[in-house]
Amino acid sequence: MSSEAELYALTHRGNPGDLEFYQRLCRGARTVLELGSGYGRVLAGLSDGSRSVVGLECDAAVIALARRRLRALSPAQRRLARLVQGDFRHFELAERFDRVLLPYNALYCLLRKRDALACFRSARLALKPRGVFAFDVWNAAPLDRSARARNAHESEPIVCLAHRGRMYDVFERSRLNRARKRVDVTYGYRPRDGGQGLEVAIPQRYFLVSEIDELLQRAGLVLAARYGDFRGGRYTANAPHQIVLARTG
Ligand SMILES: C[S@@+](CC[C@H](N)C(=O)[O-])C[C@H]1O[C@@H](n2cnc3c(N)ncnc32)[C@H](O)[C@@H]1O
Repeated sequence: MSSEAELYALTHRGNPGDLEFYQRLCRGARTVLELGSGYGRVLAGLSDGSRSVVGLECDAAVIALARRRLRALSPAQRRLARLVQGDFRHFELAERFDRVLLPYNALYCLLRKRDALACFRSARLALKPRGVFAFDVWNAAPLDRSARARNAHESEPIVCLAHRGRMYDVFERSRLNRARKRVDVTYGYRPRDGGQGLEVAIPQRYFLVSEIDELLQRAGLVLAARYGDFRGGRYTANAPHQIVLARTG
């Protein structure tokens, strides 16, 4: 099992209320596809033993963690849960889904607009006729418009965690390139007992509301709702999140 994938999973545990939001959204859905399913956090939470859940993920080490997580489910849940290794920009699955989800900022992993468009198009093709495509990202509007936002953040401690019997201090540093809408974040893992540390780079490309609306339209999707938090609060330019629900046009 990869240490990098395990440390990543320990650091990125979702946003408060996001799983419950997706659970509400999937009420009544018989088939759910999660794009960028990671270590199975959301996928396992959506599995209820009566609906089928499919996770699409590109990283083999992360899929191994998800397999481990799914093994803890009941036999009925396990029968209806599947992991597929693939790229969420270009994929073809035989079945169509009531819900296609892209949770927890996964859209920002796509560094070019054309990749995001390809992803939205593939999501539309994977939907049943009255299905819903939903995703959430941190709201980049405040950062994008703030003249005071620093371009580079020095390494800052964010958390301390235990992994395989060792304690790690976790540091985050980021670099903003507003012209390219890029925020490149690096996580540093320093073992307290000394020894070899580890760095994990997470480059991100953020998308503002106007670009998302354009991409939805070009992908043949129609905006159904936009929220600013996981309780269903209205989206505003200062909201913490941009949460989008879209349907096929
Ligand atoms: C921020 S994580 C979200 C994980 C999970 N959805 C959750 O909410 O905990 C994004 C995931 O998307 C995966 N990913 C990034 N680009 C991808 C791509 N083009 N195709 C498939 N998976 C991708 C990453 O490996 C990572 O596991």
